[in-house]
Amino acid sequence: MAKKKIALIGGGQIGGNLALLAVQKGLGDVILFDIPAAEGLVKGKALDINQLAAVDGYDCRVTGSTNWADCAGADVVIITAGVPRKPGMSREDLLEINLKIIKDVAGNLKQHCPGAFVINVANPLDAMVFALQKITGFKKNMVVGMAGVLDTSRFKCFVAEALGCSIADIEALVLGGHGDDMVPVLRTATVGGVPLTSLLPKEKLDAIVDRTRKGGGELVALYKTGSAYFAPASSSIAMAEAFLNDRKRVMPAAALCEGEYGISGLFFGVPVTIGAGGVEKVHQIELNAEEKAMMDKSLASVSKTVSEVKL
Ligand SMILES: NC(=O)c1ccc[n+]([C@@H]2O[C@H](COP(=O)([O-])OP(=O)(O)OC[C@H]3O[C@@H](n4cnc5c(N)ncnc54)[C@H](O)[C@@H]3O)[C@@H](O)[C@H]2O)c1
Repeated sequence: MAKKKIALIGGGQIGGNLALLAVQKGLGDVILFDIPAAEGLVKGKALDINQLAAVDGYDCRVTGSTNWADCAGADVVIITAGVPRKPGMSREDLLEINLKIIKDVAGNLKQHCPGAFVINVANPLDAMVFALQKITGFKKNMVVGMAGVLDTSRFKCFVAEALGCSIADIEALVLGGHGDDMVPVLRTATVGGVPLTSLLPKEKLDAIVDRTRKGGGELVALYKTGSAYFAPASSSIAMAEAFLNDRKRVMPAAALCEGEYGISGLFFGVPVTIGAGGVEKVHQIELNAEEKAMMDKSLASVSKTVSEVKL
């Protein structure tokens, strides 16, 4: 069987890490695509990663490219083309500049990669994936936004630190939009099957929720020149891998809701199954009044940003 093809649109901080992880996990051959001004960057990263491949014997290859034709026939596309935040900025501050970029990317994807499973990473996440799907007209199961896997991973990281337990034993879910009012669902979180709410006092749990919500900003303040890239890359690769290997993994992602959770026509962070059919199912869980109120607040933020998207 021929190797799968993964087109990474944007070869910056996240894009470079995506290429490395895709090769290390043997997911397929990679096209690391960027604009002509970044040709040296993507060709250099491709060469560097291909030279690393010999050390551990990886057989997948990376090609740096500024030619959309090289992305043709990709099985998976991951979009990180866009500007990251700088200290003091919100994700929504990126709307104008990144909308221009996503319009360019979406037009080219429609032409060159009509059959791909497309994972958007660029911010503001929920609005960008909305624009992407509207412009491409791709089926709703083949377009998704990466946020919940990362936000849940951050939540688990802080819980593991607080409890001194293995992060592998934590099960948790962060829903809602990829903004500071995202919704970590404490009620369903467990550690090795034990309810998290019985393991930590309320003030510690509240602090973890708060730090998770501001998790992206914490990294922006530390890096100063951009935003997080290692964990966002791993999170996106987990989604790509679920599709390529038909894993049927259940993970939170920004999916097009058509009635689920009372939401219509918006991409929003909900639990989904990802397998060979892309987003195969959106799962509806019962939320209590407090969780529902948090979802509504988050939805209002996403709706406001989407209302500013002019296509
Ligand atoms: N969803 C998430 O959880 C999450 C997490 C972190 C960052 N992000 C977002 O991901 C995006 C990328 O972050 P980064 O740190 O990799 O940024 P970066 O600046 O390092 O890389 C972005 C790359 O996109 C390229 N680019 C710009 N316009 C393009 C176009 N039209 N076509 C192709 N490539 C183009 C740039 O040349 C650059 O190399 C940002 O918008 C950031 O806010 C999202």
